[in-house]
Amino acid sequence: MENDAILVLDKINKSFPGVHALKDMSFSVRRGEVHAICGENGAGKSTLMKVVTGVYHQDSGDIYVNGKKVDIKSPNDAFDQGIAIMYQETSLFNEMTILENMFLNHEITRQVGPLKVLDYRTMEKRVNAIFEKMNVRLDLHAKVKDIGMAAKQLVEIAKALTFHSKILIMDEPTASLTDREVVALFEIIRNLKADGVSIVYISHRLDEIFEICDRVTVIRDGEFISLREVSDTNKASLVADMVGREVTSYYPKKKIDIGEVVMELDNVCQGGLLHNCSLNVRRREIVGLSGLAGAGRTELAQAVCGITKADSGTIRIEGKERQIGSYREAMQEGMVYVSEDRAKYGLVLGMDIKKNITLPQLHRIARNNMIDFHAEAEMGEKAVRDFDIKAPGADFVVENLSGGNQQKVSVARATALKPKIMILDEPTRGVDVGAKAEIYRIVGELVEQGLSILMISSELPELLGMCDRIYVMNAGSIVGEFDRENATQEGILKVALNAADE
Ligand SMILES: Nc1ncnc2c1ncn2[C@@H]1O[C@H](COP(=O)(O)OP(=O)(O)OP(=O)(O)O)[C@@H](O)[C@H]1O
Ligand SMILES: [Mg+2]
Repeated sequence: MENDAILVLDKINKSFPGVHALKDMSFSVRRGEVHAICGENGAGKSTLMKVVTGVYHQDSGDIYVNGKKVDIKSPNDAFDQGIAIMYQETSLFNEMTILENMFLNHEITRQVGPLKVLDYRTMEKRVNAIFEKMNVRLDLHAKVKDIGMAAKQLVEIAKALTFHSKILIMDEPTASLTDREVVALFEIIRNLKADGVSIVYISHRLDEIFEICDRVTVIRDGEFISLREVSDTNKASLVADMVGREVTSYYPKKKIDIGEVVMELDNVCQGGLLHNCSLNVRRREIVGLSGLAGAGRTELAQAVCGITKADSGTIRIEGKERQIGSYREAMQEGMVYVSEDRAKYGLVLGMDIKKNITLPQLHRIARNNMIDFHAEAEMGEKAVRDFDIKAPGADFVVENLSGGNQQKVSVARATALKPKIMILDEPTRGVDVGAKAEIYRIVGELVEQGLSILMISSELPELLGMCDRIYVMNAGSIVGEFDRENATQEGILKVALNAADE
């Protein structure tokens, strides 16, 4: 055992029905280091961290904190050991305010006569001091449902800081952050490290690991594979450890003939969010939508497909003007929207894979008003095969899939609808390198079959690799357009940032 280790996991085993998720897994973190965990979707990263934070209890194996064996039976036990986590899917309660979320179960109270009342003043003061240190400005009394993903993650970090956690686990903290926010997060991580906090950093973005981490543990199929100093390794060997083979072509973009305009937006406006947005997408074209967080990309996508309502402007589908009043109507026009927020707009987490795939298109598997269970199972199994979803079968409950595999179900469900226009909002969020290449391959096949795609992504390499054209948005307006030939990372960023600074 390392003697400067603050956290040691020794031969942890954890099984779920049909899945041996962790096999004799050992892992240790030093004081003040940033330690990355890498592995494919379903490798067991989140499960390992849930054992550390008391969400699951290991079947066997030991945990040591500061050299002392501990039994972590609940999230509160983990809290008492100074362990905090930012979950892959944030664990904040939407209907509560930022302040209420931060002090949930750990409220500060004061005595008023015989009564204990919440001491909001003290709680506010403590959080404001932390926010100041983090250089963050958020309204403590805003409800969490009204703040963006990036803000939610900042709240989770602030929460860990407020309670002086010694070990902070970040499960894909940057999956929904834009470049600028990632820079800010890394600054916070460096400061934490300087204060002696240890960080476990889980990410599918390998560049980040080389930028911010000290050591990296790779796991595959629930087993320990390697532990290296980041300075002694490189991307290729990490990927080889992760997948057990070499991954070569990430962006299988083929040259195909782009057809006529299929969808056209003309001066779409919405409150203070969208200002005269005009764009078009042609048949067999992949069009990207780039921009910083809050630029209005998701807002535009949701207005187009009837989830929200535009105030003015027109939408033409195949040349005809359409009034799209609801998402149902958008689907009737042949559009589907794959949301970055899977739980909110996409999947029914409590249902199994096959039901999630077939639910939006029951008519396809119904016979005489009865569900053809055989057809249902077949469609489910096909999705599991086509998208290489890591699950024992199509009747596996989506909630129990790893994050990246849930994302694959979300994309599989949309493609099964055989749409004309597919709007993808951060389609590879939380998806590992191999599976990303798989999703890109599928997207490539879809356009070959005549589909048109509008793709929102915060990962510029992904947009540059996949898109025929890229629009750049800022503050609710479209501020730039690039053809594949002249699109570069610097060029796009410059447009996005310049517009932001004006
Ligand atoms: N509650 C559960 N019930 C059944 N199986 C589960 C449960 N939680 C996780 N699993 C399974 O355990 C395995 C490991 O999942 P885990 O979420 O730890 O993967 P991960 O490495 O975090 O992947 P990702 O990169 O996609 O987030 C997967 O096969 C998953 O389906
Ligand atoms: Mg995970």
